[in-house]
Amino acid sequence: MIKIRNVNERGHFQNHWLDSQHSFSFAEYYDPEHMGVSVLRVINDDKVSPGAGFPTHGHNNMEIVSYVLEGELEHRDSMGNGSVIRPGDVQRMSAGTGVTHLEFNPSNQDGTNFLQIWLLPNARGIKPEYEQKYFSPQKKQGQLKLLVSPNGQRGSISAHSDALLFGTLLENRQSVTHVLDVNRVAYMHVARGRVNINGETLNAGDGATISDEKDVTLEGVDSVEVLLFDLPATRHYLEERMMKNPTDHPIHELLGARWSPYVFDAAKEVSTDDQNGLFEAARWTMSSYNAQPWRYIVGVKGRSEEVWQQIHEVLLEGNQPWAHQAPVLALGLAEHNFEYNAKPNKAALRDLGAASANLTFEATARGLAVHQMIGIDPDKARRVFSLPKSVEPLTALAIGYAGRAQQTNDEFAQRDARPRERKPLNDIIIQGGW
Ligand SMILES: Cc1cc2nc3c(=O)[nH]c(=O)nc-3n(C[C@H](O)[C@H](O)[C@H](O)COP(=O)(O)O)c2cc1C
Repeated sequence: MIKIRNVNERGHFQNHWLDSQHSFSFAEYYDPEHMGVSVLRVINDDKVSPGAGFPTHGHNNMEIVSYVLEGELEHRDSMGNGSVIRPGDVQRMSAGTGVTHLEFNPSNQDGTNFLQIWLLPNARGIKPEYEQKYFSPQKKQGQLKLLVSPNGQRGSISAHSDALLFGTLLENRQSVTHVLDVNRVAYMHVARGRVNINGETLNAGDGATISDEKDVTLEGVDSVEVLLFDLPATRHYLEERMMKNPTDHPIHELLGARWSPYVFDAAKEVSTDDQNGLFEAARWTMSSYNAQPWRYIVGVKGRSEEVWQQIHEVLLEGNQPWAHQAPVLALGLAEHNFEYNAKPNKAALRDLGAASANLTFEATARGLAVHQMIGIDPDKARRVFSLPKSVEPLTALAIGYAGRAQQTNDEFAQRDARPRERKPLNDIIIQGGW
C-alpha cells in the first residue's frame, strides 16, 4: 500500500528569514494524523535567507540528520564541533542527554535549502555525538546509497535509531528497487524532480509511506533526488492503531493499540522466536500462590499442522471461518488443582486469563495480534486432546499478523473497521457503596 503525502498538505511556517515546510507535525503545526512514520518523526524542508539562521537552541533524545540540497549550512554546537556542510554532506547529531547548537547560512548572497530529519532514538540519555560525511553524486547516481544506518555499515553514517536512510539520484527512466523485509515499512521524500514509485508519480516535496509491499521501485521521470527510509513496521502499526482507538485519557500504546482482529494475514508466518517470546510472556504472569495453572496446546500451520487442525475443529462454527486465516492457534487450559496438595485453586481461570493477556501484550509489542475465543466446544476439546478431569479447556487464541482490513471487503473486514467501544470510566469506578 502506498499512501502519498502531497507537497501542498505539509505544514508551513514562514518568517523574514525562514521558509519551512513540515512533512510531519512540528512546532506550531500539529496534525495528529501526521505525527511521523514509525521512528521517522520530522522532515523539515528549510529555506534559509543569506546570513540568517537558527540561533543557539537545545535538543535532547533525538537523532538529528541534516541533508543540504542547496547552498551552505554552518553549524556550531556545545560539543565543540563547528563546520560548514554543503550539498552531498550528511550530518548526524545524537542529542542524547542534551546539546545546544546554532545553524545558519554563512553566505551573503545565496539561500540555503536543507532537510532536517529527526529519528527517534533507540535509547534515551545517550552521550551526545556528532558525525559528518560527504557522499558524492556518483555514489548515488542510479543506485540506492546507504547514508545512515544503526551500525554505520557500508560506509554510512551511524545513528542510534532503527532506521536506514538511502539517497538516490535518477535520470529519466533510470530505476532502483529496494526490497522491504517483512516487518519493515518505507517512507520516501522527493527532494527534487519527479519520480514514479510502483506506478504513482510523485513531485518534488511529495512523500509516501509504503507498507505491505515486498519491494519499492523508484523510476526517474526527470532528474530526481530521493531520500528513502527503511523503518520498523511495528512502530508504524502501533501508531496507526492508536489513532483508530482514541481513549479518553492517554494510556500506554500497547494497551491502546491492541485489538482483536477478525482479519489475519494468512501469508505471514509467525517466527519461532516470536512464538517462543509470546509463551515466555505468559510464563512470567503473576498467579495466586504462584501456582502457574495455565497450559497451552499450540498448533502452527505448516509446522504442527495436525494440532492446528485439531484446535480448529474444536472452535464453534462462528469462530472457524475467520480463525481459519490465523497461522497459529492455541488452546488455553487451566489446571484446577494445586500441584502440592491437589486442592482446588479458585484463581485458576483468572490466572489463565491473565497469562493470555500478557501473551497478547507481548504479541502487540512484536507487531502481532491475538484474538481470544470463548467459543469452543470444551467436551470436544477434552476428547480430542485426552485432557484429565482437573484440566479445563477455556479459550482458544488465534495468533498472527492482522490483515489489512481495507484490502478485503467481506463481513470480517467490516467488523475490523468498526470503532471499538467501551463503557464510560464512571460506569466501572463505583463511588462508595453499590
Ligand atoms: C476470554 C475472551 C473470550 C472471547 N471470545 C470470543 C469469541 O468466542 N469470538 C469472538 O469473535 N470474539 C471473542 N472475544 C473477543 C471479544 O469480543 C473482544 O475482546 C471484545 O469485543 C473487545 O474488543 P477488542 O478486543 O478488539 O478490544 C473474546 C475475548 C476474550 C477476552
